[in-house]
Amino acid sequence: MQIENATVDSTLLEHMFLDFMQMKEFANDPVVMKRASGVWYEDINGKKYIDGISGVFTVNIGHGNRRVIDAMKAQLEEITFAPPLHSTNVRAIELTKLVSALTPGDLHTMKYFSGGSEATEAAMKLARQYHKQTGNPGKYKVISRYESYHGATLGALAASGVARRKTSFEPFGAGYVKVFPPTCYRCPYGLQYPECGVLCAAIIEKVIKQEDPSTVAALIVEPIGNTGGIITPPEEYFHILREICDKYNVLLIHDEIITGFGRTGEMFGSQTFHTTPDIICMGKGMSSGYSPVGAIAISDRIASAFYGKAEENKQFNHGHTFGGNPLSAAAAIAAISEIKERGLPEKGKRAGERIWHRVEEMKDTGVIGDIRGKGLLVGVEFVKDPKTKEQFPDDTRFGLRVGKSALKRGLVLRNDPHWVAFAPPLIISDSEVDMMMDIFADSVKEAVASVV
Ligand SMILES: Cc1ncc(COP(=O)(O)O)c(C=O)c1O
Repeated sequence: MQIENATVDSTLLEHMFLDFMQMKEFANDPVVMKRASGVWYEDINGKKYIDGISGVFTVNIGHGNRRVIDAMKAQLEEITFAPPLHSTNVRAIELTKLVSALTPGDLHTMKYFSGGSEATEAAMKLARQYHKQTGNPGKYKVISRYESYHGATLGALAASGVARRKTSFEPFGAGYVKVFPPTCYRCPYGLQYPECGVLCAAIIEKVIKQEDPSTVAALIVEPIGNTGGIITPPEEYFHILREICDKYNVLLIHDEIITGFGRTGEMFGSQTFHTTPDIICMGKGMSSGYSPVGAIAISDRIASAFYGKAEENKQFNHGHTFGGNPLSAAAAIAAISEIKERGLPEKGKRAGERIWHRVEEMKDTGVIGDIRGKGLLVGVEFVKDPKTKEQFPDDTRFGLRVGKSALKRGLVLRNDPHWVAFAPPLIISDSEVDMMMDIFADSVKEAVASVV
């Protein structure tokens, strides 16, 4: 990659808000990317970074993919916007054929959006409308989990369970109920798997009963929860959820905005856990970030409640200007075809195993508490004492120290005060994994040295 040297007028950064970012701090030492190719970024100063989290769990096929670029160029010449209130377009129909053949079970009906928050909002709205028009108008509550993140818009945030992202905007609308997530390493009930009987799943039946089943519309969960630190449940968890939802006519929504499109070793996280929800929410990796796109895939049973005569007014009363946009659809078709035809979920899984192995080898640092995840989504929880699982004090921000050191050394990681996550593009080579893990090892060493 060839780029010219450039500097940034940092006063302009005073007029930008980046995501969840303190701009004053950022402006002191800004990172401004200029180009990207494969698993590599290059910033305006020519510094290179390994993309250890696919942008933000998005660029699953890697940067600069020729097939996607060519498909988008061709689409630009053909049509870039079709009137959404009057028509659909050829690419959106082709995308429906492609995705509905890849989803588990009978999730054959698609609705498109421009991102993940729109998808989760729509899934919850669809659940409410479904119950209204199938004789259960009192079902409106949504059960979700603490430590989850379902998006930044008000409904999606109300269903999310991360206090630091929510409290500035409270109060939210009524009808959002939370349960504890399956954080086995730090079980909220102080139990041990498998003797626990997967209480974190079983207890949802009790919650539904306490809330009154005639008021509960949906349960929304991520197959693997990112914001809580790559929360990875045992497989029975999802089977129990499925049974409970069927018993109480509660729609099971899987938020696969991170886990979809190859991240967990299969096309969808639902397949990795051998389960079929009623609705899957998609975003991020659907177009690998080449154009904004999101979607929900809906089961035949649920979708059929939305077909009827015009006067019955059964259509899904929901829409966004950019849903099913032909340019985004063209990008998504090309990106998903790359994942499917090149066997990227399987390739990613092997890279994930290599990362896992390298982290195992770092246990002598004395700060590796837990390694978890599936496929090429690997979380590492840091602890002060692996035997007792004692955490570093919150204000030590150990994981953030590791993340900062990694960024300085040219590695972009997802980091949190107590953990970091790896989710590089599925195309990452063995030697690139090794380079990434060398940087990580040095970063952990630096963080350890800084706290002793
Ligand atoms: C699991 C999950 N759901 C929903 C969203 C919201 O997606 P978006 O940022 O595209 O609106 C995110 C974003 O990070 C996410 O990780």
